[in-house]
Amino acid sequence: MTGTAKEDKGKVLISHEEILEKAEELGARITEDFSGQQVLLVGILKGSVPWMADLMKCIDLDVRLDFMICSSYGSSTESSGDVKIRKDLDTDVAGKNVIIVEDIIDTGITLYKLVPILRERGAADVRICSLLSKPARRVVDLEADYLGFEVPDRFIVGYGLDFDQKYRQLPYISCLDDTED
Ligand code: IMP
Ligand code: MG
Repeated sequence: MTGTAKEDKGKVLISHEEILEKAEELGARITEDFSGQQVLLVGILKGSVPWMADLMKCIDLDVRLDFMICSSYGSSTESSGDVKIRKDLDTDVAGKNVIIVEDIIDTGITLYKLVPILRERGAADVRICSLLSKPARRVVDLEADYLGFEVPDRFIVGYGLDFDQKYRQLPYISCLDDTED
């Protein structure tokens, strides 16, 4: 790990082109599902930023944006982990159609805890749009309503996903542990 981010990268798992095609596909589905309505995209910082930027451009509705920062505590092998909101929404979600935008669903604990909080605040609908999912790691019953791609149980970087805050800017998804291949 001594070069630039792009020199250090592993194998490309999902290309920029594939991600852009997926944003168009999911954006069209959201546009159809919420026809004539307003949607509030809630990006979970920081990992959702590149994916949210692509997705929002593919939704042909009255789209509003807001962001949250969440930290999950507790063991990743238990469903009892707790979630702390470190930056809350500026928007009152009461009566709103909320779509949480995530980079990856891993154990699922973060969103498993966050969805009921937004429902309790009176959101009309709370859905999840995640670029990636690692189903092998799930410890709670939670799936995305709009999912980009399933990935294997490997450490993923790029397109918002980091290792030690690095590699978020890579315009593709790769596996960090492929670099020695
Ligand atoms: P969980 O679903 O509550 O376990 O947490 C999901 C969060 O863990 C994501 O939003 C990422 O920030 C982080 N995460 C999980 N797997 C990876 C990975 O392979 N690479 C980078 N970040 C990951
Ligand atoms: Mg994240």
